[in-house]
Amino acid sequence: MLSLTRTRNQARSNRTLSLGGMDYVEPRKKSNLVVKILMAAALTALCIILLKQSPNFNTPSQFPHHETGVTHVLVTGGAGYIGSHAALRLLHDFYRVTIVDNLSRGNLGAIKVLQQLFPQPGRLQFIHADLGDPKAVHKIFAENAFDAVMHFAAVAYVGESTLDPLKYYHNITSNTLVVLEAMATHGVKTLIYSSTCATYGEPEKTPITEQTPQLPINPYGKAKKMAEDIILDFHKNSDMAVMILRYFNVIGSDPEGRLGEAPRPELREHGRISSACFDAARGIIPGLKVRGTDYKTSDGTCIRDYIDVTDLVGAHVKALEKVKTGHVGIYNVGTGRGRTVKEFVEACKKATGVPIKVDFLPRRPGDYAEVFSDSTKIRNELNWSAKYTNLQESLQIAWRWQKAHLNGYETRQVKS
Ligand SMILES: NC(=O)c1ccc[n+]([C@@H]2O[C@H](COP(=O)([O-])OP(=O)(O)OC[C@H]3O[C@@H](n4cnc5c(N)ncnc54)[C@H](O)[C@@H]3O)[C@@H](O)[C@H]2O)c1
Repeated sequence: MLSLTRTRNQARSNRTLSLGGMDYVEPRKKSNLVVKILMAAALTALCIILLKQSPNFNTPSQFPHHETGVTHVLVTGGAGYIGSHAALRLLHDFYRVTIVDNLSRGNLGAIKVLQQLFPQPGRLQFIHADLGDPKAVHKIFAENAFDAVMHFAAVAYVGESTLDPLKYYHNITSNTLVVLEAMATHGVKTLIYSSTCATYGEPEKTPITEQTPQLPINPYGKAKKMAEDIILDFHKNSDMAVMILRYFNVIGSDPEGRLGEAPRPELREHGRISSACFDAARGIIPGLKVRGTDYKTSDGTCIRDYIDVTDLVGAHVKALEKVKTGHVGIYNVGTGRGRTVKEFVEACKKATGVPIKVDFLPRRPGDYAEVFSDSTKIRNELNWSAKYTNLQESLQIAWRWQKAHLNGYETRQVKS
């Protein structure tokens, strides 16, 4: 006991000298202490920076009240390709935006671009959350005063859906149910829903109108059709204002080069035609494989309808403006014009300036010859029609972003 006290005292007397009532710390010990304090402060600062950069760092809700003259839109999937472009357009048009995304497929980099463009208070909020978590979703709705929801969030690759159908039914159908329940509980009465031409399956007649029977042939299309049905059934006994937009093949990117399409590298194998073209032009894949050259089309390859993302988000804004309480509007969003795969590849070669190698292979089972929209209804009722209909120009804009973002949103490098 005694020896312990003495040791402590000795230790103490080694550390300090008393100088007129003040403790004087020996210079060497003092500098050690200062170093320790500085290290602790640096570590704390580092932790705060990391925490702030982490997508899990959700600042408390910034938008808990409705504000006269301000429409607050919840954009689910706003870190993704189409959702980020939609958020940009909404912010540009003075909407207030809350993005909810689990970043499973989207990019925090896209959110950062939007945050840098619209740093003013009351404009943009990002919440990292999974729509498959009903508690989290209800909390978001309880803490925020939304006027409308644009529900983009989804897994969205036809090929992947055939390999992992349950993921698709869960992520698309069941999560839409969660969003709808939250809207019903919290009195949010406007929904713009992202659907797809994949809900039509293999139509007997083209162009596809909104009356064309919906007979989807893959889990992606079926999951979206089920989500549409849930929305329509719910709507029958509610005064909700709903727009269901069925997009055709989306291409392009922001003409000002602020945003682009940056899918996860592991999703390349399921990729869409424009990503595949750019990957081939960059030498990431050896070339393009065009499957089927004996379809009854002008050059034997399949026909699709390519809609530029800028036009597509324009259709969403029109839909939001024109949506009516108690009504559902269902619209195809396409150019109304079909292009063959060969045409697309030629446009891509010109846009990139790269002589992409193309292999022509036999048909792939399940591919349908012709899919393009009849866009009369959306033109007549929403006064919307596609403007960016020059394939090469749309691809050139997207290629510019791709070249400047060789690692997607991770780095910005410009290569001539
Ligand atoms: N790209 C097209 O050609 C096309 C065509 C027709 C329809 N669509 C539809 O448009 C919507 C957007 O597609 P995209 O091409 O931008 O896809 P994307 O993968 O780029 O974006 C989807 C976003 O949703 C997020 N997300 C997915 N599951 C989520 C969950 N459970 N909780 C929260 N966030 C989640 C992802 O992280 C991603 O940011 C989808 O509904 C898709 O079905 C796309």
